Amino acid sequence: MRTIDWVDGAIEIIDQNLLPTTVTTRLLETPASVIEAIQALAVRGAPALGVAGAMGVAQLADQCADPQSVRRLAAELREARPTAVNLSWGVDRALSKLSDGAEAVLEEALRIRDEDIAACTDMGRNGADLLRELVPYAKLRVMTICNTGGLAAVERGTALGVIQTVHEQGWLEEVIPLETRPLLQGSRLTAWELSRMGAPFKLTIDSAGPFLLSRGKADAVLIGADRIVANGDTANKIGSFSLALAAKHAGIPFIVVAPESTIDTATASGAEIEIEDRGSDEVTHWGTRQTAPVGTQTLNPAFDVTPHHLITAIVTESRVVRFDRGDSLDTSQIG
Ligand code: MRU
Repeated sequence: MRTIDWVDGAIEIIDQNLLPTTVTTRLLETPASVIEAIQALAVRGAPALGVAGAMGVAQLADQCADPQSVRRLAAELREARPTAVNLSWGVDRALSKLSDGAEAVLEEALRIRDEDIAACTDMGRNGADLLRELVPYAKLRVMTICNTGGLAAVERGTALGVIQTVHEQGWLEEVIPLETRPLLQGSRLTAWELSRMGAPFKLTIDSAGPFLLSRGKADAVLIGADRIVANGDTANKIGSFSLALAAKHAGIPFIVVAPESTIDTATASGAEIEIEDRGSDEVTHWGTRQTAPVGTQTLNPAFDVTPHHLITAIVTESRVVRFDRGDSLDTSQIG
């Protein structure tokens, strides 16, 4: 089952807002519905957003004869969520084929989908090999945050794809996924994926993560990424930075797994990354129930930035960048 695909001129997605209780697909047939689905997180996760952006442009090119209108609407799609660089990357890659016609745009979008499927398999292998090298035990206990599985990509995931590979290889002892407040991607989506994989896991609350690491409950932390900038600073789901600090304190590896398309070398450092603030309701309400006094002001950053010096390594489909050994994104060769 693919998280996102192209079906007869429409974008078919698994509606992630309904998981884990209802597993159903939804067809996005207009540009407005694609933007709405992205902003409501019905489709989410950096690699899936890259595919959604590209397919959104393919749909625009298919439905709209005027290239200028396609470009104007594509610019709106590009801005639907600001932090994950894959969205603008996917839109731009598809748009680069516009002068060759709608069919060429669609071919590019399908190429991005297929590349993602291959990249996730390669990241799984590269990440599992790295963990074998870094973790001195026969079996792996690993902590992760948010959802970086097949639901965040097309078929297999990034960080959760590595965990899936370790499980398939038979040496996964336990996963500790964090629930991931406020939208619960960890409990709604990652726990659902781990159950389907038959992987052993214990779900915990976000604020328990650093403490559990200090008590030696995991051998490594694996996260995905929404944007990795030139110096290696990495934007990912809010809570990732606290885990990186705690991993350093515990003396265990903190590993980022992401495709090359998440690397944004045009941005120098993490301080320049725009962080999406998702407004008050997600903080003042528990689902539909109000849990803070009316009028409470909030801060709701959806992502944080982990400085590169807290990251042991970045794993992509084509290389492993070992910051712990002095590599940088520049010096590490794409293999
Ligand atoms: O707000 P979300 O659910 O889109 O955030 C997703 C994440 O932070 C993921 O960790 C990241 O996109 C990598 S997904 C492979």
